Amino acid sequence: MTDRIPIAVLASGSGTNLGAILEAASQPGYPARVAVIISDRPGCGALQRAEAAGVPGRVVSWPGASERDAFTAELCDVADAHGAEIMVLAGFMRILAPVAIRRFPNRILNIHPALLPAFPGAHAVADALAHGVKVSGVTVHVVDEEVDHGPIVFQEAVPVLPGDTEETLHARIQAVEHTAYPMVIDAFARGLVTVDGRIVTWVGA
Ligand code: GRF
Repeated sequence: MTDRIPIAVLASGSGTNLGAILEAASQPGYPARVAVIISDRPGCGALQRAEAAGVPGRVVSWPGASERDAFTAELCDVADAHGAEIMVLAGFMRILAPVAIRRFPNRILNIHPALLPAFPGAHAVADALAHGVKVSGVTVHVVDEEVDHGPIVFQEAVPVLPGDTEETLHARIQAVEHTAYPMVIDAFARGLVTVDGRIVTWVGA
């Protein structure tokens, strides 16, 4: 299929979400293809998955917070160079500068391991456990200029079970992520999701 929507996946870690996206994209009829995988961490699991899948993997090294604009512009340049129409953050541990939102308006997705707006930030699972919530979950949202803040596209609850640790809860959350993210990307790539301010509408829903 040649008319699939090219996407860039940005990842810093093991890349299990990336793996789920690659698996979905390998299926006939999936409307998106992974055009490039971009990471700030040479040798990370996500880049190893890129190599195994035969997808271009590119490193954009983190130059320090004072260079966030240039770093972000370089990420966008790499995504553009591979024709990416959507940027998908999958465990990307750097905060993008506003230039990314200007260049990919409403075209950047992120997945977060909690029910936003509860527990934003890099320690969402631990924070939810420490707070004693009985339900946490998964959020997929459009990226805006604030961290873990943009319009919410999809959420699914995951119960917190007695005796849960950060590891056991995160594992159940990730199992949900691995179904949710490919599904949301599918809908996005088909144009079935519209974003108007904070309001996200699923066409036909
Ligand atoms: C996921 O839990 C995601 O919600 C968060 O970072 C984690 C990335 O995991 N943003 P992986 O690298 O996809 O395994």
